[in-house]
Amino acid sequence: MEPKFWLDRWKNSDIGFHREDANINLRRFWPQLNLPSKSSVFVPLCGMSQDMSWLAQNGHKVIGVELSDIAIKRFFKGQNLSPQLRQQDGFQVWSAGPFELWAGDMFKLPSQLINNCPAVYDRASLVALPSAMQNDYAKLLITHLPAQAQILLISLSYDQKEMDGPPFSTPTQRVEDLFQPSFGIEVLDQTMTLEENDNLKKRGLTSLYETCYLLKK
Ligand SMILES: C[S@@+](CC[C@H](N)C(=O)[O-])C[C@H]1O[C@@H](n2cnc3c(N)ncnc32)[C@H](O)[C@@H]1O
Repeated sequence: MEPKFWLDRWKNSDIGFHREDANINLRRFWPQLNLPSKSSVFVPLCGMSQDMSWLAQNGHKVIGVELSDIAIKRFFKGQNLSPQLRQQDGFQVWSAGPFELWAGDMFKLPSQLINNCPAVYDRASLVALPSAMQNDYAKLLITHLPAQAQILLISLSYDQKEMDGPPFSTPTQRVEDLFQPSFGIEVLDQTMTLEENDNLKKRGLTSLYETCYLLKK
């Protein structure tokens, strides 16, 4: 999956994955992570997710990374914030209030950025990546997150024969193959979610599950 694919989608406002409200599993299960207040949360492939705003409202500093600066600018505009811009490690870094969003390729992030992050929030991020990139994604988190880090992961699974990704079907077995044994994996919830994803139904899906996992390093 080339960066151009995603940059074009943002340029064309082809963002059927975006949601206006904070994710229900985030609101329901985040308290289980029991994190110290003000701790940093890493949000990979963050888009302009309103989940970042929910995390900030719940006391966190949010560190996001996103290929498209269109997404980042739209996020700050939606928050009524005027971000400051700096250049660091080959990235444009936009920051305001509790948000620090890095514009660029997640796989080129400086590792020290997440070395001290006790938590990661992933909704529609792992599933946005094809198989080989999913391997790199898991390897990056396994290598650079600190001991006892936790990941709230919201994944999708469906019959991959019905549709090409993204999103790519990423069932429990695949999550286990990617993250075990470095992380313990607990399934918190699994819901049939086709009716809430009309865009994917139109692409041919007859069944779709959203599964929420808590991963502990
Ligand atoms: C399916 S969207 C999900 C966005 C967000 N997590 C949400 O819930 O709305 C995937 C996002 O990842 C971004 N992306 C894809 N590959 C990336 C990479 N290598 N580094 C940073 N961002 C990337 C895309 O631009 C897109 O905004």
